[in-house]
Amino acid sequence: MIAAINQASEGQADIPPVEVMLEGAKERFGQFFVTAVDEDERETEAAIVYMLETTERRALENQINQSQKMEMVGQLAGGIAHDFNNVLSAIMMANDFLLNAHKPTDPSFQDIMQIKQNATRAATLVRQLLAFSRRQTLRPQVLDLGDALSDLTMLLRRLIGEKVKLDLSHGRDLWPVKVDVSQFEQVIVNLAVNARDAMPDGGKLSVRTANVSAEEVAQAAYKGMPVADYVKIEISDTGTGIPAEIREKIFEPFFSTKEVGKGTGLGLSTVYGIIKQTGGFIYVDSELGKGTSFQIFLPRHIVVAEVQPEPQATNGSAKDAAPAAEAPKPRADLTGQGTILLVEDEEGLRALNARGLRSRGYSVIEASNGIEAMEALEECNGELDLVVSDVVMPEMDGPTLLKVMREKNPDIKIIFVSGYAEDAFEKSLPENQQFAFLPKPFTLSQLVAAVKETMAPQ
Ligand SMILES: Nc1ncnc2c1ncn2[C@@H]1O[C@H](COP(=O)(O)OP(=O)(O)OP(=O)(O)O)[C@@H](O)[C@H]1O
Ligand SMILES: [Mg+2]
Repeated sequence: MIAAINQASEGQADIPPVEVMLEGAKERFGQFFVTAVDEDERETEAAIVYMLETTERRALENQINQSQKMEMVGQLAGGIAHDFNNVLSAIMMANDFLLNAHKPTDPSFQDIMQIKQNATRAATLVRQLLAFSRRQTLRPQVLDLGDALSDLTMLLRRLIGEKVKLDLSHGRDLWPVKVDVSQFEQVIVNLAVNARDAMPDGGKLSVRTANVSAEEVAQAAYKGMPVADYVKIEISDTGTGIPAEIREKIFEPFFSTKEVGKGTGLGLSTVYGIIKQTGGFIYVDSELGKGTSFQIFLPRHIVVAEVQPEPQATNGSAKDAAPAAEAPKPRADLTGQGTILLVEDEEGLRALNARGLRSRGYSVIEASNGIEAMEALEECNGELDLVVSDVVMPEMDGPTLLKVMREKNPDIKIIFVSGYAEDAFEKSLPENQQFAFLPKPFTLSQLVAAVKETMAPQ
């Protein structure tokens, strides 16, 4: 500032404006424009200074920057996760071959199991990233949040331990919302775990639900939230609070203040992604030393009397195919017969999947894109029992392929395989089309189970 005035008093023109923070209780900013005065007046005046207050403009710019940053990080994360899913699929598939070829008494068996466990862990991380970038598979259903939270009570109590008191209070006659139950549970669990970590010496965790009508929203003017009916879930703790400097970073992936090994920094980014993908909003309020409160708003679901198209869009086998949900089940007979057309543009992955399916007794025709798939369909003259196809492919994507194939053969069965959300392509499908869905990455047994279930006569 002084330098600028000095420059002006020397008669210099075009002095760049100076941005400063103004003194006072509240954080305020101003921009000073300094211009020189005419030479003969310089005796009495050094310079002319204008000031524009820029506090509001700055806040707005910050807000835009922040949301652009989240958007970009989300895209990046989603892109990486997508490629990673292919890599992991190949690892898991090759590992399954190894497992099949080695007995548990084999000295290598433990190492192979290690690879499997770590690949599964990596798959879980990828799913969290996909959740953040809002590209994961959601299975929304209409539900009462009060019920969903009551079901979680036991788990929450165990999670937060004995030192932290749990205080649940539900609003009456909560409106229904449409969410993916397991994702919603993930949101609550992540927030509860954070709250617990913020209260090492104990405290209170409150979970409250309430209806918030459009009028209330209009009055309260929540940032960026359209006026409509919502159901609010508030999760508050009496913990350390979040310092103002990091408050806008907490939703970023990999932002963590916890020691290495304690936190990956994906908890809140997962929460953020799930809430956004569900069409909701999340806000945080925090006071240092007093506690933190997260407020989630989910749009009220208006129940319309119509047939729900979702259940037919998916197939039971796909639901259980998520790697983390893998539970030791009695070994089912996973061999079968029939001809499968396998469409996948990634060569390595296609070869592995084909090998896996062949090892279980199926005949497999491979195609690396939609055009090849159509040719193969033509050649085998309808002698095809099932199509297993990637969704995102160059030239012709999965949904387009399905449409063209069904025009020729309306009964053809198909499993879509993808690391992306189902609803990303559900829109581009003609209504009432049946197909099964298998999220990437998957193990050999998950693939074969899905194949078997889809091929079974209905
Ligand atoms: N309830 C809370 N009270 C105080 N600080 C919090 C609270 N919730 C989140 N934070 C802060 O936000 C950071 C990011 O949270 P996030 O859940 O994304 O990651 P993490 O808990 O560090 O790791 P992860 O959840 O992946 O194990 C935390 O490290 C912590 O500093
Ligand atoms: Mg966390």
